[in-house]
Amino acid sequence: EAGALWGGRFAGGPSPELTELSRSTQFDWRLAPYDIAGSKAHAAALAAAGYLSASELIDMTAALDALLADVTSGAFGPQASDEDVHSALERGLVERAGDLGGKLRAGRSRNDQIATLVRLFLRDHSERIARLVLDLIDALAAQAEAHPNAIMPGRTHLQHAQPVLLAHHLLAHCWPLVRDLERIRDWRARSDASPYGSGALAGNTLGLDAGLVADRLGFSVVVENSIDGTAARDLVAEFAYITAQLGIDVSRFAEEIILWNTREFGFVTLSDSYSTGSSIMPQKKNPDIAELARGKAGRLIGNLSGLLATLKGLPLAYNRDIQEDKEPVFDSVDTLEVLLPAFTGMVATLRFHTERMRELAPQGYSLATDVAEWLVKQHVPFRDAHEITGKLVAHAEANGLELDEVDDAALVAISPHLTPEVRSVLTIEGSVGSRSGIGGTAPERVADQRAHLTERVRVL
Ligand code: ARG
Repeated sequence: EAGALWGGRFAGGPSPELTELSRSTQFDWRLAPYDIAGSKAHAAALAAAGYLSASELIDMTAALDALLADVTSGAFGPQASDEDVHSALERGLVERAGDLGGKLRAGRSRNDQIATLVRLFLRDHSERIARLVLDLIDALAAQAEAHPNAIMPGRTHLQHAQPVLLAHHLLAHCWPLVRDLERIRDWRARSDASPYGSGALAGNTLGLDAGLVADRLGFSVVVENSIDGTAARDLVAEFAYITAQLGIDVSRFAEEIILWNTREFGFVTLSDSYSTGSSIMPQKKNPDIAELARGKAGRLIGNLSGLLATLKGLPLAYNRDIQEDKEPVFDSVDTLEVLLPAFTGMVATLRFHTERMRELAPQGYSLATDVAEWLVKQHVPFRDAHEITGKLVAHAEANGLELDEVDDAALVAISPHLTPEVRSVLTIEGSVGSRSGIGGTAPERVADQRAHLTERVRVL
């Protein structure tokens, strides 16, 4: 059987149905460079323990390098009879190194190999994804800086609530992304242990130096428990969670862009390069990137859920179910690596209609809280202040007025505390400017926040 890694105790080869089901090269072949890096490190450990002579190590390493070159150029690839990336590469090695190639498998198992390779893959992609998230944070922060004084209607329950700076709102989308970056950093620390040397589950008898292998592969330490090293996939699930959380965080801004881009809101215009047209309606310009971002979040959540379902109740140690870890997490990585650059480009090229935002900001009685807090400053208990302001809003609503249009006589009729001076807080600049506590929307606070964001990201 070409490519099979066993045979001694088997009377016949695998059935074609089994081969079909078992094959994973269609998705694990992308791990080939990591597999070969692991093999080179393992060869060094075999040599250090006396199982390969110095010249054998040189020949083995050369054969592995030649194999890598052929994998990279496409000259070598998996065959239909190869079960997985490991079997295919062993076939390739034996083709190049002859009997010497058959020595490499000593003291390792595909179980410790695959656990290591998935970690290596995710560690590389975690860096790439972190850079893409940083680019998105930069784009959001640059838009915030470009609009330092623009005021928009802040919402709760999607209703006008209180005016806020556009910059404050944009930065509010940055902080979850910063925490996602911190999650990636924490994950990297936790994933910095090599499972290589765990063997099938119980370690190996050959006295191989797993620390040497770990070091060559860029891990700081070796896993403490060989069963854990081969059977655990919590780190894969955690990575899938981080990608899902990123998708969710991006989807929340995506949804707002979709709303803001409607005629009714009219808050933004998308760049032509980052929007799409309609095949039938010539006038259309659609926010497809934002919609795809919203949709991909569902896919990322699905990948996480599927993986968790696979792991639930799985007994120790390695079970073939575990092979199902790769497709979902690979898909999550690929999805984000395509989505984030497009989303960042859309954000960077958004045009904001700040006059439109400004016009809507005071509407919907969004300054009512300012009136109530002004009354508190006149020593009216907040309970009464809330009641008085509620009456003011009811009066304005009944008469089709905004708060600053209610005349003096009507004000005192509602409450003697409502003197004409209350109008000093009925401007959106006044409202925004007075929210000057830590984390508030006052311009100087938002400028501080912007600076803190840069510091926080710098240490990552
Ligand atoms: N291809 C498998 C995986 O991705 C590794 C092979 C382990 N197979 C086995 N029969 N122990 O998990």
